[in-house]
Amino acid sequence: MKIILIGASGTIGRRIYETLSNKHEIVRASRSGGDVEVDIETAESIEQMYKSVSDVDAVICAAGGAKFGLFRDLTEDDFYLGIRSKMMGQVNLVRIGQNYVSDGGSFTLTTGVLADDPIAGSSAVTLLNAGLNGFVAAAAQELARGLRVNAVSPTIVEDSVAAYGDAFAGFDPAPMARVVNGYIRCLTGNFTGRVIRVY
Ligand SMILES: NC(=O)c1ccc[n+]([C@@H]2O[C@H](COP(=O)([O-])OP(=O)(O)OC[C@H]3O[C@@H](n4cnc5c(N)ncnc54)[C@H](OP(=O)(O)O)[C@@H]3O)[C@@H](O)[C@H]2O)c1
Repeated sequence: MKIILIGASGTIGRRIYETLSNKHEIVRASRSGGDVEVDIETAESIEQMYKSVSDVDAVICAAGGAKFGLFRDLTEDDFYLGIRSKMMGQVNLVRIGQNYVSDGGSFTLTTGVLADDPIAGSSAVTLLNAGLNGFVAAAAQELARGLRVNAVSPTIVEDSVAAYGDAFAGFDPAPMARVVNGYIRCLTGNFTGRVIRVY
């Protein structure tokens, strides 16, 4: 398959790349470096990416920022940061991509455990992750040409424990191989509208 992997240089994306690049043609995408530059916060940039890469069978997104912080400290802009990036960025990858991805192709997005298990500081992130989980279920019903959309929802991943482990005290980190397997299931399975939880 020819797969656009957005966030290929990131903590999760680089593990997806390492595993999938043996079997598939992976086009690495992010704001800097990679094979194609894209900023998912901008619909025009996403459209440009799809125009520049032909015959795409699948899109995997492991990118999207959001503001973590105590609710009393979060500004409206802090919420919009994640809405523009993680939420609408991924929605637009599907909304625009449905016009470009090949028949029977798939979109795999990334949400996260905070949709189901909020913690102090997660109000903005929980909002986005839960919204995206709902979006996947709804959009799947309408995609044409056999296109599928799913999401992987990891808990904190092993490779991020050093960076964020303190905020996730008591959560069992997900081994990277299990996280990558979630993306492989979405890529190769026949299902649509599902959230694969890797908790
Ligand atoms: N790490 C975890 O434990 C964990 C757990 C659950 C869910 N998640 C979710 O998984 C996703 C990836 O997390 P991560 O920890 O792998 O992140 P990361 O290490 O910060 O990597 C992010 C990747 O996305 C790219 N990127 C960031 N903003 C972008 C944009 N606007 N347009 C295009 N590319 C962009 C980055 O490259 P450039 O900077 O070059 O653009 C990089 O390749 C996030 O949505 C995160 O919320 C992570």
